[in-house]
Amino acid sequence: MSLTRLHIDSFRNITSAQLQLGDGLNLIYGQNGSGKTSILEAIYFLGMGRSFRSHLSQRVINNQQDQLTLFANLEQQQQQAKVGLRRFRSGEIEVKINGDKVKRLSTLAETLPIQVITPESFSLLFEGPKSRRQFIDWGAFHTDKNFYSAWANVRRILKHRNQMLKNETPYQQIQFWDKELVRYAEMVTQIRKQYVGSLNELLKGIIEEFLPQVDVKVSFTRGWDSKTHYHELLQAQYLRDLAAGHTASGPHKADLRLRVGTLPVQDALSRGQLKLLVCALRIAQGKLLKQQINKNSIYLVDDLPSELDARHRQLLLQQLSDTGAQVFVTAIEPAAIIDSLNTPPAKVFHVEQGRVTVIE
Ligand SMILES: Nc1ncnc2c1ncn2[C@@H]1O[C@H](COP(=O)(O)OP(=O)(O)OP(=O)(O)O)[C@@H](O)[C@H]1O
Ligand SMILES: [Mg+2]
Repeated sequence: MSLTRLHIDSFRNITSAQLQLGDGLNLIYGQNGSGKTSILEAIYFLGMGRSFRSHLSQRVINNQQDQLTLFANLEQQQQQAKVGLRRFRSGEIEVKINGDKVKRLSTLAETLPIQVITPESFSLLFEGPKSRRQFIDWGAFHTDKNFYSAWANVRRILKHRNQMLKNETPYQQIQFWDKELVRYAEMVTQIRKQYVGSLNELLKGIIEEFLPQVDVKVSFTRGWDSKTHYHELLQAQYLRDLAAGHTASGPHKADLRLRVGTLPVQDALSRGQLKLLVCALRIAQGKLLKQQINKNSIYLVDDLPSELDARHRQLLLQQLSDTGAQVFVTAIEPAAIIDSLNTPPAKVFHVEQGRVTVIE
């Protein structure tokens, strides 16, 4: 999967830009505040229908405008597709794939598997388990077609169950819903567990290159004690759940544990090393997707040079290029990227006050 052409209209400080993109590495450079991250954000928005920077989607619409438009031509194994998205200040969103209106944003995500590596994606390791769970679920979603509906069912039933707990519903009534919950929870857990298992195999090699001599262990925790059957646990914890007004254990508490020896990685690794670990995780995901469903991801790497020395920049760029994926990287100084490459980038763009020009 790669984008051949991208049109951005009224997205942040980019009033209008038409980019002919390269198949491999696309370098975007420019000064602080020029609009580099906004270009990556626009690509992400087109693939996900939301931003990776702000929960408030209307913030990305250019201040002077009432709507934004994004449009791209895609190519996947010689097949062409067109994706378009329009977002209005009122909140309305319109998505088209090959001219046909699409209702569910998940169709968009399926079409465009996007991997983002930004200084903020460190939250994958630091903040609560939510972003680590999202990391697992990105892979589970793309590689198993049953995952999306099973996970949607878990969330729907849990919401209902929590409401019943708040209403002090007796267990006999809740039990009926628990049967369904257990069924979907097991499906979700099985897919996640298998995914992390496959990912781990690929990850080892990449971690060895990025962080030799560091013994990073990545493991999956399901969200409840694996020795206990989920149904029994729900029953045993009913009184506790009732007092709390929500369900304490389950697949909504699943996590990816990242450790060095007995320490959580954030206590054992430096900032640069953590960045490399995030990159290793993302690269392993992209490689696994290619192996499992023969689909390339699109990589968005914001401010790639920051916190990495020359050797690690080179290693990272090499690993990204090995995935065969289309890669977008931003940097303030182009030399910080170009000097670390064996071959020149496919395309170079300069951004200045929201205006994008291609450098031949
Ligand atoms: N809704 C908006 N409308 C217009 N301009 C906006 C909007 N949101 C943000 N901006 C402006 O867009 C500019 C570009 O921001 P962006 O984060 O893309 O810059 P950058 O090139 O990535 O900078 P840095 O090197 O500091 O990361 C900023 O000056 C910001 O003030
Ligand atoms: Mg930026």
